Amino acid sequence: MDLMIEKAQPDDLREKPDENNLGFGRYFTDHMFTMQYQEGQGWHEPVISRYHPFTVDPAAMVLHYGQAIFEGLKAYRGKDNRVYLFRPTANLARMNVSAARMCMPQIDVNQVLNALQELIRLDQEWVPKAKGATLYIRPTMVATEAGLGVRAAKQFMFFIILSPVGAYYPEGFNPVKIYVTDTYVRAVPGGVGHVKTAGNYAASIMAAVEAKKQGFTQVLWLDAVERKFIEEVGTMNIFFLINDDLITPPLGGSILAGVTRDSVLTMARAWGIKAVERRISIEEVFAANQQGTLREIFGTGTAAVISPVGSLHYQGRECLINEGRTGALAQRLFDELQAIQYGWKDDPYGWTMAI
Ligand code: COI
Repeated sequence: MDLMIEKAQPDDLREKPDENNLGFGRYFTDHMFTMQYQEGQGWHEPVISRYHPFTVDPAAMVLHYGQAIFEGLKAYRGKDNRVYLFRPTANLARMNVSAARMCMPQIDVNQVLNALQELIRLDQEWVPKAKGATLYIRPTMVATEAGLGVRAAKQFMFFIILSPVGAYYPEGFNPVKIYVTDTYVRAVPGGVGHVKTAGNYAASIMAAVEAKKQGFTQVLWLDAVERKFIEEVGTMNIFFLINDDLITPPLGGSILAGVTRDSVLTMARAWGIKAVERRISIEEVFAANQQGTLREIFGTGTAAVISPVGSLHYQGRECLINEGRTGALAQRLFDELQAIQYGWKDDPYGWTMAI
């Protein structure tokens, strides 16, 4: 497949936003990547072209039955002015796991990575220089075949868009207040909780709206069977530091295998911290807090990076963590991860890729 590059014309170029006030996912760069899939033909027409709206058939199957998957990764501007990607093949490989579960076609990771690098080279001026700002990358695949029968589509589109972003939460790196819901569930065993499909996020919105009305930033989900064991937060995996153990729920099929989650486990273990993946109940967390052994809670995600949790609210009870302040481990992990991502220090793990 030969990648076509159709550069945006001067009139198509967009105004660059203020790098110190980016928010999350509000601005998009000058170019995008698209390719098409047809059963029997495979992927074809890989093109980088100006950022533009699509025309889709009103019967496109994604609009009706939700065959849609996506990824989120980031590019960072180093001190040397080079641009670095963080673990891009981990995200693209995860996209193939999502594709398999959703009966969508596999992508060629190397080919897509190549196209992504070309795209970022073309839009490199958009990779922010401001502290804490990055270029968020959103690869997406949707079913474009027109038809109302419920089955796997035979025609798909894959695209990548780029968005310069600041912190995901308005709190930045400051601790967030989290609502633990026992009314709604995010994922069930045997379902699609472990894949990054649009429907998971659509289904989560109601709990998030209700939590927000009450002044919370995010929702913490419990398992769907017993509504007892902790799963993940809306857009993050979650970690607990109890005594000297760093605990995170296991990848049992209903939570997302976060790339930041894996990076945190790897770093913590390299530092000699006992990092364990095991089931942990909400009652265990409240009990540890009462006994004074709960030291920190933080979330991890590409968009959110490391996000300290200041308090959990569950069935009218509040669990205030570390007096609502950022814990030392969350801070250390955040500093180390950022230093590797921006290329400020040597990357002992082989995670970064200079473009
Ligand atoms: C990410 O962290 O990249 C995510 O996918 C969360 C997102 C839905 C904002």
